Amino acid sequence: MDPINMLYISIEGNTRSFMERFSAYASQQHAIDSSQPEVVAREVTEQTDFTDEREPFFVSVPTYLEGGNGIDSGVKELMTNVLGEYIQYHNNARQCVGVIGSGNRNFNEQYCLTAKRYAQRFNAPFIADFELRGTSNDIERIYKILLDQSKAQ
Ligand SMILES: Cc1cc2nc3c(=O)[nH]c(=O)nc-3n(C[C@H](O)[C@H](O)[C@H](O)COP(=O)(O)O)c2cc1C
Repeated sequence: MDPINMLYISIEGNTRSFMERFSAYASQQHAIDSSQPEVVAREVTEQTDFTDEREPFFVSVPTYLEGGNGIDSGVKELMTNVLGEYIQYHNNARQCVGVIGSGNRNFNEQYCLTAKRYAQRFNAPFIADFELRGTSNDIERIYKILLDQSKAQ
């Protein structure tokens, strides 16, 4: 199977930590059984040159929001906007096949809300969530979800 492409953004390092461990886990799975895909994770930052994505990709986005009612209106996205702009660039959104959210459950209804908003905005399914840096269980669980989603493409 082709590698799974992942785009992510990380302001304070939690999502980066998850993605590094996630990619390492996928490489390990691939080494044991070559039919298991590797994960190629790329970080989008303010310095990233926007390019046209030619292959399907998943997105992992943490939540930084201000204001709103905690459900769907009035919130303002902070810090992660450049990832949304990257997905919106040219036809990139057409290649976006799923969105993973991360956040902190202390934010209650706003937990992972940016990912849910991206899913709506880019017409892609919200496929998984993890809290802060995620656990080993999250890594295994989300790898399986990505596998299923990739096979369904
Ligand atoms: C200013 C600020 C606002 C945040 N707002 C939310 C929020 O609305 N919902 C949520 O689930 N997590 C929220 N978080 C928690 C972050 O999404 C969480 O710490 C995440 O792991 C950060 O990822 P990163 O380290 O990759 O940037 C907020 C954190 C900060 C510092």
